[in-house]
Amino acid sequence: MNRQHHQDEIIEGREITLTIFRYDPNNKESKPHYQDYKIAETPGMTLYIALINILTRIDHDLSFDFVCRAGICGSCAMVVNGKPRLACKTLTSEFTDGKITLLPLPTFQHIKDLSIDTGTWMNAMSVKVESWIHSKEQVDISKLEKPIEPEVADEVFELDRCIECGICLASCSTRVMREDFLGAVGLVRTARFAIDPHDERTDDDFYELIGDDDGIFGCMSLLGCEDHCPKDLPLQTKIAYMRRKMVEVK
Ligand code: SF4
Ligand code: FES
Repeated sequence: MNRQHHQDEIIEGREITLTIFRYDPNNKESKPHYQDYKIAETPGMTLYIALINILTRIDHDLSFDFVCRAGICGSCAMVVNGKPRLACKTLTSEFTDGKITLLPLPTFQHIKDLSIDTGTWMNAMSVKVESWIHSKEQVDISKLEKPIEPEVADEVFELDRCIECGICLASCSTRVMREDFLGAVGLVRTARFAIDPHDERTDDDFYELIGDDDGIFGCMSLLGCEDHCPKDLPLQTKIAYMRRKMVEVK
């Protein structure tokens, strides 16, 4: 018997227990509590598949968010055994004792059970940091876009990989203390535009947006954001890049 086949047999036979936080803030009868669900694990099962399994076979009332099932939309972030992660990119086989506890991501508005509203906050953040190219140049769409150095384009595209999952905020102690803290997602968004030569904003302009304790000076460099970001973005390097720029603004 080859090793993979043997492993699949073990996994297929296993029963796992998901202990899930249940609460509906819009229902006066509802009280926060945990509920256990026992399911049979299948090979390659992700937490997303486990939750769908529970939803379709055991409990139609369970709420959680997902769209893409591929680590792209950022909807399925939740706290898994104490750490914020994407449900669709987490294999149940990682948990050798078969016990998995799920909670909604903190610091966002709770909708129900594992479902939270990240969109309202992300939208407000995008507006606050003016998350778009600022240029006085008239764009002529019949012409090719102004070229930039490939290394610079790579740096910008790397930061554009952010999926706005909110995990960096859920991992951040400053965010717990300061409701309006922009977090890694907001600060690194400003770095994305500061690096992009299409954007004509100066360091003074960025200082107006992030030069306070709700912005760049609120970060305590505890690295929780970088430890948990599912896209492995270089969050602390780019926050440090913006901090260096901002301390030089008189
Ligand atoms: S920076 Fe990383 S953890 Fe934060 S929202 Fe973007 S992808 Fe998620
Ligand atoms: S469902 Fe889209 S990132 Fe998990």
